[in-house]
Amino acid sequence: MRTRVGIVGGGPAGLLLSHLLHGRGIESVVLEARSRKDLESEIRAGVLEHGTAELLIETGVGDRMQREGAVHHGVKLQFDGRRERIDLEELTGKTITLYGQHEVVKDLVGARLDAGGEILFEAKGIEPLDLESGEPKVRFVRDGEEQELRCDFVVGTDGFHGVTRKALPEGARAEYERRYPFGWFGILVEGPPSTEELIYALHDRGFALVSTRSPQIQRLYFQCDPGDEAGSWSDDRIWTEMHARLDTDDGWTVNEGKIIQKNVVQMRSFVCEPMRHGRLFLAGDAAHIVPPTGAKGMNLAVADVRVLSRGLAGFYESGDTNGLDRYSATCLRRVWKASRFSWWMTSMLHRFDGDNAFQYRMQVAELDYVAGSRAASTSLAENYVGLPMAPELEASAEERTAQGAS
Ligand code: DHB
Repeated sequence: MRTRVGIVGGGPAGLLLSHLLHGRGIESVVLEARSRKDLESEIRAGVLEHGTAELLIETGVGDRMQREGAVHHGVKLQFDGRRERIDLEELTGKTITLYGQHEVVKDLVGARLDAGGEILFEAKGIEPLDLESGEPKVRFVRDGEEQELRCDFVVGTDGFHGVTRKALPEGARAEYERRYPFGWFGILVEGPPSTEELIYALHDRGFALVSTRSPQIQRLYFQCDPGDEAGSWSDDRIWTEMHARLDTDDGWTVNEGKIIQKNVVQMRSFVCEPMRHGRLFLAGDAAHIVPPTGAKGMNLAVADVRVLSRGLAGFYESGDTNGLDRYSATCLRRVWKASRFSWWMTSMLHRFDGDNAFQYRMQVAELDYVAGSRAASTSLAENYVGLPMAPELEASAEERTAQGAS
């Protein structure tokens, strides 16, 4: 089997890259270890930055998001018994869209298959080979048969635990990591939202977050021990904890409902440099992960593949390797800024073991400053709605036409 770009991993990064390349007339094949059903049902974050939502719309995969997603104009910070609003739109002119990552994945799978694209589900034992040669390949097993995909380039979009990053020789990569001494316990709840806008809360019992998925489903999270598992918390204990961290003196309370899913999210910051080796390019979680506070994970992946699709288009259209040569450095500048933002939000909003009352007062003072200062709240807002994807790469009219937008 031969294609131009072999994409290892069918999450949002790999699927979107394949979609963007298709818009440029560049053929690709996506290899995905999971079944379509498992892939499409994996529950992850649900906040799309302004630029992410725009890109999905411009490239023709934003219809359902526009119908079913919710545009939010602000977010709330809760601390010291108060709730303060950050008006994202007023401060930045931009909004965010609440739409689950697995819904984006479903829309992209549908668009690729409708356009005749190839996604090979349940491809096991994936092994990238000959990455320093002019014709790399990916070996895999499917339906019990060993197969080989030969291509011009391999792109690794197979997530943090994937195989592609490990294909960069150890001496050719540097890894930077910070682990946080807590996790997030996430629940999906049937019932009406408790609030119209997201609430990020600092409480001396720990962080809590109120989000939504739809008018019928709430998404709630709270800081837990890193070793907790989905079964560690009974429903009763969860609601007692959520009320303790979130309810306010004015009578506002978090709406209870039937808990239909529980999961634990690990908290880690990680960056691998560079994001390229020979003919292998890494994008999304395969190259970097952030703690979930601020919901940057998928948005970073989208920014990476946007830069990469431009680089590949330059190469195929005119033989120009400049975009590909600059890919890693261009992405890493944005990756580090989003890593800083996610780390900062995490540090400001969580209780760390061993923190004393002084540190708690520092966190409250910081939140009070962020909420009360236009400069500080603008800083939070511009990061939250998303920093420019890559300033020198903002979509040209030409790109929009190539992607088939009206
Ligand atoms: C959601 C997840 C996040 O990490 C976040 O910061 C906000 C919202 C969510 O899943 O809705």
